[in-house]
Formats: sequence, structure tokens, C-alpha cells
Amino acid sequence: MSERVRELISERELQARIREMGQQISRDYAGADLVMLGVLKGCFLFMADLCRHIDLPLCCDFVGLSSYGDRTSSSGVVRITADLTRPLEGKDVLIVEDIVDTGLTMQYLLGKLQDRVPRSIKLCSLLYKPARCVVPCKIDYLGFTVDDVFVIGYGLDFEGRYRNQRYIGVLDPDGD
Ligand code: IMP
Ligand code: MG
Repeated sequence: MSERVRELISERELQARIREMGQQISRDYAGADLVMLGVLKGCFLFMADLCRHIDLPLCCDFVGLSSYGDRTSSSGVVRITADLTRPLEGKDVLIVEDIVDTGLTMQYLLGKLQDRVPRSIKLCSLLYKPARCVVPCKIDYLGFTVDDVFVIGYGLDFEGRYRNQRYIGVLDPDGD
């Protein structure tokens, strides 16, 4: 428990960008049958803030996916830990993700969702780490690009901790 955290994206920067993203999504999805599909657990704060800046009727659903275990690099193996609760047929699905790293999680989820014949699928991710990309995936709405560092806070965890931190930070596990 002796890690040191350095602030990377402040609470103010996060909230300003999320407001802009919500306004953009509100314009783009006017008249659509929008389902925001959050990827648990990391999306929970981002989704809560983002959906409150979207001025449209919408549904929220969640899917639990896990690709990491308790390490700071991807295992490459994606597991479903919780399935969504409603059909997606004919819906305009907006996936809400905390971070796209290798892209393996999104490749897996997009494949699974095609089977449920939604009208459209787009991806909204708070963060993107291009240096680690293995499978290119199109991010339709992106908050911030980050360098090749392990980030925590605002939903993102290290070994289950830091999700409640109000800002995005970088973890230095050797710090004291
Ligand atoms: P991907 O499949 O490698 O793109 O990884 C996606 C998932 O890994 C994300 O949804 C996060 O849950 C987790 N992840 C990737 N990078 C980080 C990080 O820097 N901090 C915390 N979690 C991360
Ligand atoms: Mg995630």
C-alpha cells in the first residue's frame, strides 16, 4: 500500500471534457433510440457523469468484462462477469468504456454485440493508450489520449483500489 500517485488529469479537466462529450452525443443522437452500455467496473463514474450531460431520452445498461486480473498488463483473455439485462435489437448502442489499451476487450465485445442486431454501435472511451494498441478499434468519442503509463482513479483501479479517486493519476509502484 506504499504506491505513490501523480495527478495526470484533474477533476476539473475531466468534468469539462465530459460535459463537451455529452453535448456532442446529445447532438449526434437526437431522434435515436439510445442505449448507453457501460463496461463494468471501470465505467461507473464516467457513465454516471456523462449520462447527466446527455439531454435525450435514453436507457442505461451494463456488461461486466474482465481482462486484467490483478496485474498492470493485459492477460489478453476477456471474461464476461455480468451480462446485459435488455435486448439490443434495433437500438442505437453507445458503449461506454474507461480506457482502450490493447483493444482486445473492445474487439471481443463488439463481436458479441453484433449477434444482438442493434441498429448501430459506437464506442465512447474516456481514455486511449495508443502505444499499447494490438487490435485497432475506432473510438467515436474520446476524452483523452494517455502515454504508456498505468493510470488509476475515476473508475480505474489497481488491484481493486483507487476507483473512487476524483482525478486520473499515474501509479508509481516503487514510490514510498
Ligand atoms: P484492453 O483490452 O487491453 O484494451 O484493456 C481494456 C481494459 O483494461 C480497460 O477497460 C481497463 O479496465 C483495463 N486497463 C487498461 N489499461 C489500464 C490502466 O492503465 N489502468 C487501469 N486499468 C487499465
Ligand atoms: Mg474497462
